[in-house]
Amino acid sequence: MSIKKKFQAKLAEIGSELEDHFDELKSEIERRFGPRKNDGEVFRALPAPAGLMMPLGDALAARRSERNFSNEPLPDPLLANLLYAADGINRSNGKRTTPSAFNWRETEIYVLKPNGIWRWVPERNGLIFCSPDDIRGETYLVEMPLAALPPVILVYVTNFERTQDLVMKLASVIVDKAKRSDWTEERLEEARVRSTHIDVGLKMQAVALAAAAMKLASVPRTGFLAEELGKKLHLKPTETVAAVQSVGYPAKSMFDHIF
Ligand SMILES: Cc1cc2nc3c(=O)[nH]c(=O)nc-3n(C[C@H](O)[C@H](O)[C@H](O)COP(=O)(O)O)c2cc1C
Repeated sequence: MSIKKKFQAKLAEIGSELEDHFDELKSEIERRFGPRKNDGEVFRALPAPAGLMMPLGDALAARRSERNFSNEPLPDPLLANLLYAADGINRSNGKRTTPSAFNWRETEIYVLKPNGIWRWVPERNGLIFCSPDDIRGETYLVEMPLAALPPVILVYVTNFERTQDLVMKLASVIVDKAKRSDWTEERLEEARVRSTHIDVGLKMQAVALAAAAMKLASVPRTGFLAEELGKKLHLKPTETVAAVQSVGYPAKSMFDHIF
């Protein structure tokens, strides 16, 4: 079976529970960003991720932070590969290409493009449309000329609601049973927050390697105003922007931004 067919079969296996999740997600996006102004496209399916053929050793050797981007758009097949690397479903139980603490899957990915704000939906291998606003510039502390902005900025949002589940409560019970008086609630809380940061870091490195394998430029960034960016994304109080990652074709020369 080809990689593409295997991938599609896996998605099909995951089933109706995830379909329900998609309907909930659609309503949630409407609640936050407002109702759709017309019946325009609300979901953009991405192509199945294609095999990245560069040997891992070469991708590791090529990985670096690049901050100068061409403003050429990033084609969907390349974006699909990046999102698959970050948070693609690679098993029939719905688990992902990157690990997450307690399998919380608390990191949600928004995709900022010149044509608006989109949100990654791994179960559907596509993007749900949120808003036509181009907020790429809001992820920088300095004003950026439009032409110098990367065509894609991935925004990693931590949804802390997902980290307060039964597993965490269970962890407290186990701690009580183990009679570890030095493992306090505060330490449990610290481990919870630390885990969410690690989850985002793993995704950013996977994207950096996939980008390197496709000869794209990328840079992970935490230098932005998280609260302001969160407002633009209509985040809930339990959600926070953890990091962003710019991706695009590397600028070939300073003239790339002019022509
Ligand atoms: C958590 C984290 C936050 C970062 N934040 C920024 C940032 O806000 N702006 C930026 O230009 N680079 C940022 N970087 C990129 C680092 O500056 C870069 O990784 C470092 O200089 C090493 O260079 P290299 O990635 O090419 O190896 C960040 C990297 C990490 C891991």
